[in-house]
Amino acid sequence: MSGTHEPDSFAALEKREWAKPDVARSYATVFAMAADMVVPSLVAAVEAGPDRHVLDLCCGQGNVSAGLHGAGARVTGLDFSPAMLQMARAAVPEAQFVEGDAMSLCFEDQTFDAVTIGFGMPHVPDPPKVLAEARRVLRPGGRLAFSVWCGPEVDSALGYVFGAIEQHGAPHIALPPGPGANDYADPAIAFPVLEEAGFADLRQSTVASNWQVNDPGAPYDFFLEGTARGGALLRPQPPSHAAAIRAAVVAKVLERHGAGPDWIVPIPAVVTAATAV
Ligand SMILES: C[S@@+](CC[C@H](N)C(=O)[O-])C[C@H]1O[C@@H](n2cnc3c(N)ncnc32)[C@H](O)[C@@H]1O
Repeated sequence: MSGTHEPDSFAALEKREWAKPDVARSYATVFAMAADMVVPSLVAAVEAGPDRHVLDLCCGQGNVSAGLHGAGARVTGLDFSPAMLQMARAAVPEAQFVEGDAMSLCFEDQTFDAVTIGFGMPHVPDPPKVLAEARRVLRPGGRLAFSVWCGPEVDSALGYVFGAIEQHGAPHIALPPGPGANDYADPAIAFPVLEEAGFADLRQSTVASNWQVNDPGAPYDFFLEGTARGGALLRPQPPSHAAAIRAAVVAKVLERHGAGPDWIVPIPAVVTAATAV
């Protein structure tokens, strides 16, 4: 190996970051406090129940799998991060967890009654491929549901952090080309791809998830420590840029949500549901 650094591809960045035990643990214990609030909507959208076998793609630490199992479903979870899978197996010992790539599933056609994807869509380099694979492994009439954070056009911690990076980040720090973080919250992007993959009965709903924090800079810390995309933009910032970004997040939380000492910071999500034709 030479000592030089090749530029990262989006796929390589995602795989490397989620494999890090500290990123996986921080996501699961802190960032996912908001993701956990979306689990009941995903479970309801796929009509999980005792007679259903559900595939939970990008299962991470197993929060959606736990919700599906709690509804009585038989659950298979899939993720490419061994660190995440270790937590998922501990969280839901009754489920089966498989290490694999959501873009190339190791299951026969029509194996499952439902597929969930909790906040996985922005992380895969080829989202249409994941939806095509989800359709392939679903029986006709099977249900699909996936969650994606709303974009910065609504009041969201995501907008506070990425807005602050845009304003105060060092210009040379950028992500490799890849799908947008909120693309699949947008029906104009998601619905044509779902139809092309063989889904109908397309619906979206917004879920009002949030973080309850006692530090107005917490959203910055959560993105820094517990995400692949945010971390890749925030961790390499020179100290003065990092401090300016955090200060801008603090200012936004105070402006929008008052002087504290506790804050409920919104990070709403969109759940998209569909039926396999
Ligand atoms: C933001 S976490 C979501 C975890 C959990 N589903 C939730 O709702 O909180 C994204 C997960 O997707 C996984 N992931 C990203 N790209 C993947 C891929 N191509 N195949 C399988 N898993 C992937 C990551 O390892 C990570 O566990």
